[in-house]
Amino acid sequence: MLHPVVLSGGSGTRLWPLSRQNQPKQFLALMGDRSLFQETVLRAHALEGVQPPVTVCSEDHRFMVGEQLQAVGVPSGGIVLEPVARNTAPAIALAAMHVLARDPGATLLVMPADHLIEDEAAFRTAVDTARALGDEGCLVAFGIKPDYAETGYGYILRGDALGTDGGYRIESFVEKPDLATAERYLAEGTYAWNSGMFLFRADRYLEELGKHAPEMMATVREAYAQAESDLDFTRIPEAMFAASPSDSIDYAVMEKTDRAAVVPVSCGWSDIGSWSSLWSVAERDADDNLHEGDVISVDTKGSLVRASERRMIATLGVEDLVIIDTADATLVARKDRVQDVKAIVDRLKGEG
Ligand code: GDD
Ligand code: MG
Repeated sequence: MLHPVVLSGGSGTRLWPLSRQNQPKQFLALMGDRSLFQETVLRAHALEGVQPPVTVCSEDHRFMVGEQLQAVGVPSGGIVLEPVARNTAPAIALAAMHVLARDPGATLLVMPADHLIEDEAAFRTAVDTARALGDEGCLVAFGIKPDYAETGYGYILRGDALGTDGGYRIESFVEKPDLATAERYLAEGTYAWNSGMFLFRADRYLEELGKHAPEMMATVREAYAQAESDLDFTRIPEAMFAASPSDSIDYAVMEKTDRAAVVPVSCGWSDIGSWSSLWSVAERDADDNLHEGDVISVDTKGSLVRASERRMIATLGVEDLVIIDTADATLVARKDRVQDVKAIVDRLKGEG
């Protein structure tokens, strides 16, 4: 059976000051009435013959996850609570163990909670293709046609076709290359972006993790064995889980496994990683502005201005700015610098 796994443990620091530790971006209604997390679980729920989604998130967000699931009427397949974040490879391992306890033949569809997909029908078709490959033991990534040299993504070079249905062996998987390499991949025109969504049999993932990251596999297994469940929550003990190496599925497994496959998909995918990516996917006015709340702008172009409930914002004669007001902090930044908002958060934490 197919079990969606919603990864919801990120902190979304580049969307500060709206995204905060106690309320990271995936739980905020950034566009429309629903949060990215809610959009994700609804997308999962709409798949054919699918089990209720399993959410893996921080202990701190357990009630928010429960409430947000309930608000959109999606049943929960369990909420696995991490005491500390150890990145996506251990998080997915916990989900695999969780699901295998109930369904030894389980297939996982891993879905980050902070992505936007415009064409859900195309996404569902790609999932069907991936399921066939997953049944054959492949670890399937979904490939997106790249449109610029993003260094924050993984890059996939496809190899031979697998079957006739639109899947390929992965020739090489390179996570977060440097700019020169990303530019070369883009120019070569043969690489796809890794979307960050994956599909594989749960047992196959653990097998590959055991092969390529044995220490992580052993630690997570021990932590899961000591987990405590009550109602919908499964709590992972901190002492064991904190001992796990921290790494992403991309570095720990996908770059190394020889069972990797890719299904190219064109589904209007975007990763809402920063204010500029939110601006670029949203519907904008005639001057290319995106306004939220009480905003007046005169001779303003290409800007994202988001007022909070406490005051109005007016702009005059500016271009390409991001202005985000909240109850206790206001960000003013050039739109082409918002990737560095993280530096502000680091400074606030005393790390910068
Ligand atoms: N539960 C849990 N625990 N979730 C986590 C953790 C964790 O420790 N760390 C990250 N996540 C969640 C994030 O909330 C996000 O939804 C997803 O896992 C991916 O993590 P990111 O930190 O956003 O990864 P990335 O954007 O740097 O890179 C990944 O996504 C790119 C596409 O958006 C990689 O898969 C890249 O290859 C890919 O191109
Ligand atoms: Mg991301």
